[in-house]
Amino acid sequence: MAGPPLSRSRSLPRRLLLFCFLVSCIALATRTADASRRDLIGISIGGGGGISIGIGGGGGSSPSHQQPPSPPSSSEPQACDFENERIYRAYLVIQRFKNTITSDPQGITRSWTGTDVCGSYKGFFCESPPNVKDRALASVDFNGYMLRSASVVGFVDALPDLALFHANSNDFGGLVPNLRALQYFYELDFSNNKLAPCTFPTDVLGLTNATFIDIRFNRFYADLPYGLFCSFPIVEAIFVNNNQFSGSLPANLGDSPVNYLSLANNRFTGPIPSSIARAAGTLLEVLFLNNRLSGCLPYELGLLAKATVIDAGTNQLTGTIPASYACLRKVEQLNLADNLLYGVVPDALCRLAYDGGHLANLTLSGNYFTGLGACCWDLLKNGKLNVDRNCIPYAPNQRSHQECAGFFHRTKMTCPVSTHVPCYHKSYGVDAGAEEAKAAAEEYKYRTYSALKP
Ligand SMILES: *[C@@H]1O[C@H](CO)[C@@H](O)[C@H](O)[C@H]1NC(C)=O
Ligand SMILES: *[C@@H]1O[C@H](CO)[C@@H](O)[C@H](O)[C@H]1NC(C)=O
Repeated sequence: MAGPPLSRSRSLPRRLLLFCFLVSCIALATRTADASRRDLIGISIGGGGGISIGIGGGGGSSPSHQQPPSPPSSSEPQACDFENERIYRAYLVIQRFKNTITSDPQGITRSWTGTDVCGSYKGFFCESPPNVKDRALASVDFNGYMLRSASVVGFVDALPDLALFHANSNDFGGLVPNLRALQYFYELDFSNNKLAPCTFPTDVLGLTNATFIDIRFNRFYADLPYGLFCSFPIVEAIFVNNNQFSGSLPANLGDSPVNYLSLANNRFTGPIPSSIARAAGTLLEVLFLNNRLSGCLPYELGLLAKATVIDAGTNQLTGTIPASYACLRKVEQLNLADNLLYGVVPDALCRLAYDGGHLANLTLSGNYFTGLGACCWDLLKNGKLNVDRNCIPYAPNQRSHQECAGFFHRTKMTCPVSTHVPCYHKSYGVDAGAEEAKAAAEEYKYRTYSALKP
């Protein structure tokens, strides 16, 4: 996936010459600015592909004048050997971090020597921060490097100009560093590491300008904080899947402007918050998959007019499919498999595969549905609907009569039956078949589903 364009770099300022002259530098002539690496950061999934915001935004004062770590011995490069002082300070931080790395199977850190931090250090990328002429260390992308270190505290948080930190598939332990002081920071990816088992790292909530928060595939536990859904006014993706989070989902979930939300493969309990209706204008993909969510399948999910993926499979949700789901005009993948749902699958929902809707995959297997709307039978025939292991007469691969009777005997059907369709229906008849087939074939184009792989 293409990385975020960090395209506002400028050529090396002339005043660098003056800087080096003033500090009596003799080695200047051997170095030139490396302008070739400024362009792109190749970020795989996990990386916030497609996120198109430049560094930080406005602000523009110089970074906090914190003390650099103690300078290395005189045989080491000196400050004036570097492109500018920001890069020199970053160099010191990198060298200190390098000493903490205990495993580097790809030999990445071998490139972390010398003064050309921006040009030859693998995983480091330079850009000019907004309203600053000098280049600075703007992003760190260690995706897939498999580096091991007991902690990145004292490293990431000591790079004041950093806008992105991507560390998918490394072996970093310890805590998530507090990055509140990093004024340009907007993308955090700690996915698939060995961070210490901990509750949600609340310092992250201070990253007001974050667009990408990814801590999937770690060992975080306990409740998600309420702040996760109200602290980030421009967030695009939140991936917390494959941890051990538990408790109810925060009631304010729908207040987040997030486009891609993955809560899959945790231990959440309780209902899907009805506030999700408030995300109708922004939510594009949402995964509740494989938790312990219960309660009635909410009417409000049907209001997600822009959503292409809604996956609440493998939970303990019950009730019937509300008529509002016929309003999911953009939905391509709808998975409600392996829950405790019952009733008749609404004809109007299945029509979303035909009538100018985009439904390509409706998975309802492993429930207790007892009937299909007329159009659903066609969908079943062409393989876009899966109703295996239900209680539907004449459908293939159904549960036994005994199993179905047992469920209906045990279950108090107290969920409201909602028949109100809260959207205007265009006339039927447009066949969007080709488009849907393409969508189904490319399931993993979906960003949230891609996030389910480490
Ligand atoms: C967020 O960005 C604004 C505008 O660029 C800036 O003034 C502010 O300091 C940033 N916030 C943080 C927490 O860095
Ligand atoms: C349909 O969705 C189910 C549930 O998410 C998934 O297991 C299956 O692979 C999907 N099928 C296609 C063809 O996309």
